[in-house]
Amino acid sequence: MSKHIATFDEFRDAITAYRLPRVLIAAIELDIFTAIGADSWTLADLAREMKVSERGLTILCRNLAMAGLLKKRGEIYRNSRLGATALNAHHPAYRGAYLRLITSHWTDWGRLPESVKSGLPLDHDELEGPDYRRRFTWAMHHRTVEIAPKIVAQIDLRGARTLLDLGGGPGTYAMAFLTKNPALRAAVCDRPAALEVAKEIASTHKAGPRLSYLPLDLLTESIPGAYDVIWYSNVLHIYSPQDNQALFLRALAALNPGGRLLIQDAFLHDREGLLPEEAGLFSVSMLLFTEQGDTYKVAETRTWLTDAGFERIKILRMKKGTEDWEGGIMEARSPGMNVKTRERRTRSIRNSRSRLSH
Ligand SMILES: C[S@@+](CC[C@H](N)C(=O)[O-])C[C@H]1O[C@@H](n2cnc3c(N)ncnc32)[C@H](O)[C@@H]1O
Repeated sequence: MSKHIATFDEFRDAITAYRLPRVLIAAIELDIFTAIGADSWTLADLAREMKVSERGLTILCRNLAMAGLLKKRGEIYRNSRLGATALNAHHPAYRGAYLRLITSHWTDWGRLPESVKSGLPLDHDELEGPDYRRRFTWAMHHRTVEIAPKIVAQIDLRGARTLLDLGGGPGTYAMAFLTKNPALRAAVCDRPAALEVAKEIASTHKAGPRLSYLPLDLLTESIPGAYDVIWYSNVLHIYSPQDNQALFLRALAALNPGGRLLIQDAFLHDREGLLPEEAGLFSVSMLLFTEQGDTYKVAETRTWLTDAGFERIKILRMKKGTEDWEGGIMEARSPGMNVKTRERRTRSIRNSRSRLSH
């Protein structure tokens, strides 16, 4: 639900909503959930353990308890279930790489006026090296490890034998598809440093041997092989409309007749491009971190797909609470190969190529 701000009080409340997020980020920065672990603490003992002031900790912990992240009984604090698991570095379910990524965005978002003025991303050029890519890829794994199997459970891939996870990073979705579909084989395509992380993750899965690795610059290189399904998740928003249209042509060429391109992204669903709010806010991240990225309307993405030669384009609806983005999966089919559709496909590819070259 988007916020509609009409009064000064609503405006003030919207601005001061930064307070709880800053409390949560401070808790992660101080690694408080790890310090508490599975134990119960008085604030005096915990302050000594964490080497912070008791006064500061008292106020922070009170707010964390109000948010449900800590349990308070009298003078004693302990972790909630979430605090003890996903937020605790000593627990196997810890999602630290993603927590580090999203908490680091606090500083970046503070520089938003710079990007609005320049139209350019913040000076993160130095970051795109193997170390950065590795950290980012683990962050993507920790972001989707819980939701991926829930999404995949709702996508029927019966009859498909091959899947390409294009820009698949850690391959978390590819692994979920392989686990659900025992006859499927998959390849994950990404930059080499991302694929190293994908290999480490796959080595811990029973379905891991059915995953292969394709190092490729998906922006410029053609996609080798022929697949029944291409899963293109959370990449569309990184690139410009022109880059995405060119990518759709290469994806179509890499699909078997009747094959499916599944695009997952933060789509805007209404005519004006104002809904949902989450997709709008995500486009701000694209301004801060990418050269030309944005979030796109369902309608414009559908046009690019049709122009590229795809057919039977539709949104796949997931159950509420089990989606990466609201209404965030679009399916498009490669034409089956009877004579008519082959001619239509060739014509459409030719038209799109000539449009893109202008
Ligand atoms: C936001 S992550 C999404 C990862 C995964 N698909 C998911 O949904 O969680 C985008 C991925 O696309 C990859 N990517 C972006 N541009 C690429 C390019 N030009 N060539 C290869 N991979 C690229 C990145 O390395 C990263 O792993």
